[in-house]
Amino acid sequence: MAVTIKTEDEIAKMRIAGRKAAEVLEYIEPYVVPGVSTEELNRLCHEYITQVQKAIPAPLNYKGFPKSICTSVNQVVCHGIPSEKKILKSGDIINIDITVIDNGYHGDTSKMFLVGKVAPHAERLVRVTQECLYKAIELVKPGTHLGDIGHVIQKHAEAHYFSIVRDYCGHGIGLGFHEDPQVLHYGTPGTGMELVEGMTFTIEPMLNAGKAATKLKSDGWTVETRDGRLSAQWEHTLAVTATGVEVLTARKEEPF
Ligand code: MF3
Ligand code: CO
Ligand code: CO
Repeated sequence: MAVTIKTEDEIAKMRIAGRKAAEVLEYIEPYVVPGVSTEELNRLCHEYITQVQKAIPAPLNYKGFPKSICTSVNQVVCHGIPSEKKILKSGDIINIDITVIDNGYHGDTSKMFLVGKVAPHAERLVRVTQECLYKAIELVKPGTHLGDIGHVIQKHAEAHYFSIVRDYCGHGIGLGFHEDPQVLHYGTPGTGMELVEGMTFTIEPMLNAGKAATKLKSDGWTVETRDGRLSAQWEHTLAVTATGVEVLTARKEEPF
């Protein structure tokens, strides 16, 4: 599939979808506390997206995914399935990944939440992963190559002795949930596709405390670290502008 360049009208629609996805993360924050189940977080987000936002939760029934959000706790890298049986406890780290469809367009974003009191090494993994995303966003403008983006993420992660998950990547986004190009979170400067105004894509680095290898659980969705150590992920949906970048899924707490 070819990369689609969005018109200003399309970007305007993606801006609304992106803002809605961001607002779900803002809405759910006070509920992410010890004792809550990931199914309860799913239920709250589903109700908010469908009843308040009048939007569609993209994961629900996507290739058979059974829930409206992804909840990935501790050693879960991505695509964790919300469950009544998964109760958050103090010390957990959790990624909540929200994708909404509004007016046909997708907005895709995720962040890490610290549950109760979290160990310093876990907090460091979460912080460095967010720094990787932010350093990558800073590079987004016409003329930057995808390899530049991958490289800055890889360099920052490895400087902190963390590994980059290579089995999953960012992606173009728009009318489709996962469009071209693939946005790798590792790479070589000056290589890969060159960005042009009107491209929209996600950057969503996953960093592991141990080795990069992942394994898919028998539910067909949940991705875990092979070595059982912690993993963290942050994601934004971005648009390339004439002079730089617009973060379509920015939250109020962020500096964009
Ligand atoms: N939101 C994920 C991404 O960032 C995709 C989730 S697919 C699902 O690309 F089916 F697991 F929801
Ligand atoms: Co994504
Ligand atoms: Co996502």
